[in-house]
Amino acid sequence: MQIAVIGGDGTGPEVTREALKVLNAISQRDGFTYETTDFDFGGERYLRTKETLPVGAVDQLRKFDAIFLGAVGHPDVAPGILEKGLLLELRFQLDQYINLRPVKLYPGVETPLANKKPQDIDFVVVRENTEDLYCGVGGFLKKHTADEVATQSAVYTRKGCERCIRWAFDFTRRRNNPKGKMLTLVAKTNVLTFGHDLWWRTFQEVAKEFPDVKADYNHVDACCMWMVKNPEYYDVIVTTNMFGDIITDLGAMIQGGMGVAAGGNINPDPGGTSMFEPMGGSAPKYTGQNVINPIAAIGAMGMLLQHTGHAASGDRVLRAVEHVTGTKMKGQAAGKMGYSTTQVGDLVVAALSEV
Ligand code: IPM
Ligand code: MN
Repeated sequence: MQIAVIGGDGTGPEVTREALKVLNAISQRDGFTYETTDFDFGGERYLRTKETLPVGAVDQLRKFDAIFLGAVGHPDVAPGILEKGLLLELRFQLDQYINLRPVKLYPGVETPLANKKPQDIDFVVVRENTEDLYCGVGGFLKKHTADEVATQSAVYTRKGCERCIRWAFDFTRRRNNPKGKMLTLVAKTNVLTFGHDLWWRTFQEVAKEFPDVKADYNHVDACCMWMVKNPEYYDVIVTTNMFGDIITDLGAMIQGGMGVAAGGNINPDPGGTSMFEPMGGSAPKYTGQNVINPIAAIGAMGMLLQHTGHAASGDRVLRAVEHVTGTKMKGQAAGKMGYSTTQVGDLVVAALSEV
């Protein structure tokens, strides 16, 4: 297995190091081999060269089995440049049309929701990752005048929503929730009567291929209420790119914060290259202090293994993470873990053979 590693900015390289430590340990334990290749993309390189992804970089990355991304974001780089030029560019160019965001409260992790336990907060958001308001379609008219007009169009295609919805149904089937298999489409069909009507019709049609999965629907505003009040309601959610972005931050908070939440940008097609990342940012103020939480990055590595033909190893990494949050760590915030970044990595490595 060939893995491209973009450690990125701020604390990105520190959490990436712990994820790679766990990868090394699990590969020895389970007897598989891999090679990593480092890429220095991110804010530092951008400030030096004024390019986010050099010419040919995407085609180089395309050859890898997977990409691991630590974090991008630099205080001296204007907002939007690295997001659009690196993260979104890779998602689009590599056609990573699924953004997979598990919302799982690990044992021992504090949630801001009163009286909710790990068994209550355990669902997965499947977010479409290549369309919607993220396409960059729009423009200005009479810019910088009192009559200025700005448009930003949401683009939805039959192919784009159908492939995402079908993958989400299949994922729900494979997840095989003992409480019952249910896929909830989250959209806004009462207002977005064109784009989300396409999603709704496609959802109803694809549902027929999966009679064993309950096809459910929530408006996005109601979904935000239920995620806070009754998160146990959900099994799998499928949603559009922009709504998915918003509800997954809400999801990250109810599962204990950005130090815990991991995600995958998946191209499920044969030969597709997927990219896995912790959801927290580059947290520049903690750089080099060995205090940042590596759990999200280690979780992202577990997901990478689950989606590259090493499911049992990935599952074991995630069980080891739960063991460490449940029996060792005092908290999940930077500097409040009771352990350093490297110690948490060591604890997960030690737990691999106990779970
Ligand atoms: C995410 C992030 C990105 C997004 C940003 C950094 C462009 O918030 O992965 O959810 O909006 O998709
Ligand atoms: Mn987001």
